[in-house]
Amino acid sequence: MSYKVLYRKWRPLKFSEVSGQDQIVITLKNELINNRLSHAFLFCGTRGTGKTTVARILARAINCLDGDLLYTGEPCNKCQSCKSILESTTTDVIEIDAASNNRVDNVRELLDEVMYRPVSLKNRVYVIDEVHMLSSGAFNALLKTLEEPPENVFFILATTEPNKIPVTIQSRCQRFDFRRVSVPDITKKLKHITSSENIMIDDNSIKLISTLAKGSLRDALSLLEQVRSQFSGSDINTAKIESILGILDSQEITNLFRLILDKDIKNLILTISEIYMSGKDIFLIFNQMLSYCRDIILFKNGIAPEFIVNNKFRQQSEIFSTDLVLKFVDLIYEGLMLSRYNDNLNYVLESVVIKMSELIVNSQEDVSLEGVKVAAKCQPIVREKWLGILDEIQVTDNNLRNKLLSSRPFLINNTVYVDVPEPFINTINSSEMALLERRLANHCKITTHDELRELIKKNTNIDSEKGSSKINEIISQKDKMPGIIQVH
Ligand SMILES: Nc1ncnc2c1ncn2[C@@H]1O[C@H](COP(=O)(O)OP(=O)(O)OP(=O)(O)O)[C@@H](O)[C@H]1O
Ligand SMILES: [Mg+2]
Ligand SMILES: [Zn+2]
Repeated sequence: MSYKVLYRKWRPLKFSEVSGQDQIVITLKNELINNRLSHAFLFCGTRGTGKTTVARILARAINCLDGDLLYTGEPCNKCQSCKSILESTTTDVIEIDAASNNRVDNVRELLDEVMYRPVSLKNRVYVIDEVHMLSSGAFNALLKTLEEPPENVFFILATTEPNKIPVTIQSRCQRFDFRRVSVPDITKKLKHITSSENIMIDDNSIKLISTLAKGSLRDALSLLEQVRSQFSGSDINTAKIESILGILDSQEITNLFRLILDKDIKNLILTISEIYMSGKDIFLIFNQMLSYCRDIILFKNGIAPEFIVNNKFRQQSEIFSTDLVLKFVDLIYEGLMLSRYNDNLNYVLESVVIKMSELIVNSQEDVSLEGVKVAAKCQPIVREKWLGILDEIQVTDNNLRNKLLSSRPFLINNTVYVDVPEPFINTINSSEMALLERRLANHCKITTHDELRELIKKNTNIDSEKGSSKINEIISQKDKMPGIIQVH
């Protein structure tokens, strides 16, 4: 038997095998069971969601000779009619692609036979794919037939762009809108197919493919096929998928955001240059950055992880505030727009990530005392940065992490002063302290409010009374989270 690509081999032969289009399938089966079928259907929806598949199942059901049809609404796929359609040996089911047969004479030619009885089947079925491509003359010719369709003729029109179909045609058809297939539905199908095909693949990879397919089961199966053939014989994992697609792996994307957070412009530029030179697709990378931002917002709002592309992002979700992430999203969209008109996509990406890191710089510079900028050598560590540091030095002990989260870290002369609020002041024990010092390379001290106040005074040369009370205010704002100290 000749080799068939996965998506053709696994084209559903029955309504029950179609994923994610329950409403459509139920309606069609009911019409078949009750023998109340329309004569014209319009199947709309994005690519690879099952329009052609359902059209073919319906064409067989319309002609199936098996009595069970009236109970199940499914074609038997075994009777002479079903077989001749499956094997394309009948001329009574006509499938045409309007993209390449869009002229009026093509349609006339096709419809010439409409008045004659079908040759071998009960009914003649026309499946017109990409029907929006027909010329207006061709639409008119089709309309005439649709107005008075002969008894045993059925039309199934399929399109990805229903808005381009004249309303006169639309109003004569029963319209079905095919939905994008959901991630869980694609996952289920992929699990079934990979286990039947003995394809060794882990759950994370299945989830990644399901998400990347953006609702198209055909795209999901094509991607699976691509990975399988490229790495034939070996197990499939997410790294292999990422390498084939020319996208960043989760570590790389996490690092990119880490550099943005650190305002590390030099390494950002180097990283982007590497990404570009390795042939990765900058468009896809913008999209990955978007889905990264989306993940963070989802996590922050407690939305179930099944819908989230990558679990590794979870740890980073607490680093960024929602507000900041939304600003990132604006910049990324801007970059995507610019990319359409620009050949040097790497420069566009570069400028976007620099602008993103600027947002972080700005929030730190906001801190000023009565117009006196707190010198760079003495500044509160913004929340984003502080969480980043805690993440980096791997403070995993929940107790300690909580203490530090509610502290007010200040960076003074390259030392992080952790101002722990009263209830905790005595609870940081020496081993926790040692851990912090070790992780922060000895640049860490725990202070009290008083000590911190004195240190800031000394390092900013603010000794006016007004200045001192401002400093007091900053370091005793109990209601604010550490770091996001705003002084007006
Ligand atoms: N809803 C679905 N359930 C199961 N398999 C599907 C579904 N949608 C698509 N597929 C798989 O993808 C392949 C292509 O689907 P199909 O040709 O029906 O898509 P389509 O909606 O007609 O797309 P296009 O708009 O590009 O013509 C099928 O052979 C099948 O393997
Ligand atoms: Mg199709
Ligand atoms: Zn049959």
